Order: sequence, then structure tokens, then C-alpha cells
Amino acid sequence: MTKRWLAERKQEKYYRLAKKLDYRSRASFKLIQMDDRFDIFREGDSVVDLGASPGGWLQVAKERVGSGKVIGVDLRPIRPIDGVVTIIGDITDKGTINELLEKLGRKADVILSDMAPNIGGHYSTDHARSVHLCAFAVNAADNILKKEGKMVAKVFMGDLFQTMKEEFEKRFRIVKVHAPDATRSASSEVYVIAKGFKGHEPEEMHTENTEKKTKFTVKGEIR
Ligand SMILES: C[S@@+](CC[C@H](N)C(=O)[O-])C[C@H]1O[C@@H](n2cnc3c(N)ncnc32)[C@H](O)[C@@H]1O
Repeated sequence: MTKRWLAERKQEKYYRLAKKLDYRSRASFKLIQMDDRFDIFREGDSVVDLGASPGGWLQVAKERVGSGKVIGVDLRPIRPIDGVVTIIGDITDKGTINELLEKLGRKADVILSDMAPNIGGHYSTDHARSVHLCAFAVNAADNILKKEGKMVAKVFMGDLFQTMKEEFEKRFRIVKVHAPDATRSASSEVYVIAKGFKGHEPEEMHTENTEKKTKFTVKGEIR
């Protein structure tokens, strides 16, 4: 049994389980596993999911917060899910953040981000783009997460990771890094699980074209 064979079997297992349980993506199991381990959701919580299409995380969030409000945003449309509000939007646009705030009515208890860039196959570029998206997710938290709120955000591992983690540490009392079992073994992705938001003044984010730059100081070049 090679490592690759075992990894494929694991993915096949989650694929079949997602089909059986009517989840839209295998990614649902990552969130289930993280919630079971890190206790993210509470009944009645309001949740914002950044990069939510096709909706696997939205389904799990809705199941776990019950009467709470769940809002998903993505560049791509999301097929309707009972009791979930969805927005088509780019999280790097200020207008999307304003729309989220308006739909929420109050600040969120939990912010999720499973956002991923289009994978180009060049490792350091994909990593830098992922960190860049994560910086925008953190900026969304500065704008729409309530004090003591929680956040779960995906980042691809690499040399900019530590600087990104420090941005979380500035804002949250507890910061953990985790790779759930449902994550592909070959994947470089990890999740930052952050609790106890201290509040943070939103920083100005630059969003010109697709080559967007943030005010976060990251070591290395963002392409
Ligand atoms: C891995 S998928 C999310 C899967 C989702 N968690 C689920 O369970 O179905 C990543 C998503 O991030 C979205 N995304 C990437 N950049 C984005 C941006 N700037 N604004 C909003 N969504 C973005 C992509 O369109 C893609 O659908």
C-alpha cells in the first residue's frame, strides 16, 4: 500500500460520504471535524462564510447554528440552501463587506474562509495568493466580526505563513493551526482557528486589478 493509494482511498471515502449525506463538497467534513474538535459553533450564532461555493460549509454551518443567520459569499453563484443567504461578490471589494454588514444587521459571531486562489501550479505564487486572500478575510473580520468572535481560515503553507499567523495573533486571544483528516494528504493547506477576537481597527486594503496589494507587511513578494 503506497502513501498515494492510501490518500486516494481517503478522498474516495469522503467523496462517497458527501454523496450519501447530501453534502455539496467533501470540504464539509473538514468543517465538521474542526467544529467537533475546536467547538466553533453555538446554536443561534450568526456566521459569514467567505468563498462559500458550492456550499458544503454553508450546509454544515446551518445545521450547527440552527436558528442563527448564515450568509455565504463567493465570486461564483451558490445554489440556494434552505435558511441561508448567499451573495455573489468579491471579498476584496469594500462594497461586498458593506453588503455583508447590511445583510447581517449586526456583527457576526463566526467568520469562515475556505477561499482559495485559482491554482496555477507554481508553488510560491499559489502560496502568496492564498496568503493574500487570507489577509482580506482577516480584514473582513476587522469590519464585521464581533468582539470575542471566532474565525476559521484556510491558508496554503509557505514562507509567508508565519507573518500571516502573526496577524491573527494580534487580533485573537487563541490561535491554533490545524490540518483536518479530511484534507488531502498531499495538500499544503492548513486552517487557522482563532478565538476571542479583541477587535481591530480595519486597515485600508488596496484592490487595484487582480494584482492586489494589502497593507500587511509580508516578507517576500506577492505576485
Ligand atoms: C475551496 S472553494 C470553497 C468550498 C466551500 N467551502 C464548500 O464547502 O463548498 C474556494 C472558493 O473561494 C472562492 N473565492 C476565491 N477568491 C475569492 C474572492 N476574492 N471573493 C470571494 N470568493 C472567492 C472561489 O470562487 C471558490 O469557490
